[in-house]
Amino acid sequence: MPVDAQKLKDNFALVGANGVDVAEYFYADLFAREPQLRRMFPTGMTRQYEVLLGALTQVVSSVDDHDTLIPYLEDLGRRHHGFGVLREHYGPVGVSLLATLAYFSGPEWNDDLERDWTAAYGLVTEVMAGAAAELVS
Ligand code: HEM
Repeated sequence: MPVDAQKLKDNFALVGANGVDVAEYFYADLFAREPQLRRMFPTGMTRQYEVLLGALTQVVSSVDDHDTLIPYLEDLGRRHHGFGVLREHYGPVGVSLLATLAYFSGPEWNDDLERDWTAAYGLVTEVMAGAAAELVS
């Protein structure tokens, strides 16, 4: 079944209404599960909270517009190569992202949303990590 873009947008609008708490929760969850990733990020995370939320908003708003989404993710993926991000890092980040979305969705969370977010994040990973891989091949 194709990803239901409108459901993702509606769900992200619900989750995003919690503002910076969403990014705080996400990084707390990520660093609790994967403490070794903490050192990749700056000590002060305030700016990172904002850029993550901005990037997620951008991704979700163009999830059904691949002509916009793919070049954006390719650029983001190439920059992440410069931050030392490897393909294997995308899995743990996806786990924390899904956990964060589920937490802030509360009773609205369901199997369909989980499936659609997993598929969308799979695409993000493929495009970002794929563009990074082309830099080293
Ligand atoms: C949905 C996937 C992701 C999104 C939307 C995202 C978004 C962003 C954005 C917008 C920035 C700011 C810099 C820039 O725009 O180039 C950034 C920086 C960064 N991201 Fe990601 N990212 C993602 C996945 C990952 C993954 C898998 C890792 C691996 C741990 C990661 C680690 C980092 C690091 C280390 C920085 C640089 C922090 C700094 O030194 O300022 N990101 N990310």
